[in-house]
Amino acid sequence: MDLDIQDIIIAIDGYSSTGKSSFAKLIAKELGFLYLDSGALYRGVTLLVLENGWYNGDRIDTDKLVPALNALDLHFEDHGKGVRTYMGARCIERQIRSMKVSALVSPVAAIPEVRRYVDRRLHELARNRRVVMDGRDIGTTVFPDAELKIFMTADKKVRAQRRMDELIAKGEPVEFQEILDNLEQRDYIDSHRVASPLRQAPDALVLDNTNMTFEQQMDWLEGILKARFAR
Ligand code: DC
Repeated sequence: MDLDIQDIIIAIDGYSSTGKSSFAKLIAKELGFLYLDSGALYRGVTLLVLENGWYNGDRIDTDKLVPALNALDLHFEDHGKGVRTYMGARCIERQIRSMKVSALVSPVAAIPEVRRYVDRRLHELARNRRVVMDGRDIGTTVFPDAELKIFMTADKKVRAQRRMDELIAKGEPVEFQEILDNLEQRDYIDSHRVASPLRQAPDALVLDNTNMTFEQQMDWLEGILKARFAR
């Protein structure tokens, strides 16, 4: 599709496991955009906390974490098998998707200094590019001027089932109830935290994909892009 615009940001926000990242990756592939996964950066910071023992089961040691953010090199690399998250030279894609990281990521993402770190990285990585980004506050806080904002939602049980299928496919078997509990907890923390909570931007288009295939979602998006930006 020929777009009449040089740099364009598509901001996708929404609840956990609504298929934001799968949809964003598809958009990147079909339209040749750069995909930035902001959740992966929060997960990378969480991995740093866990591996250094800065979480004692009760509180996160921000006195240790905050100064360490200055030297933290989280970025994305694609060596032909899709985009992977890196911490310096080390690929951390598998580790950041574990249940251990999922269980702690929302409290880590609620720390204002961590949010500032991730926002800064996203701005650096997005400069002068056509980018699709997914997260919780991309359209509201990180890129409030994004050309297109999408807010994704889907039925909670459908979301939990999708997440379970993903984890099983990776050989990490978990109980349906554990996933549903984790989703509900994250929905709550993500939308009630003080620092840029998950909210729908007033100018975001809502996409409820409970009963939609990827193809249908892509058709929906292409219709919008054509109407707004096609030459
Ligand atoms: O999309 P995800 O499940 O990988 O995101 C992991 C966590 O990071 C999620 O529970 C909330 C947080 N997050 C956030 O607070 N802001 C973003 N822009 C992206 C993710």
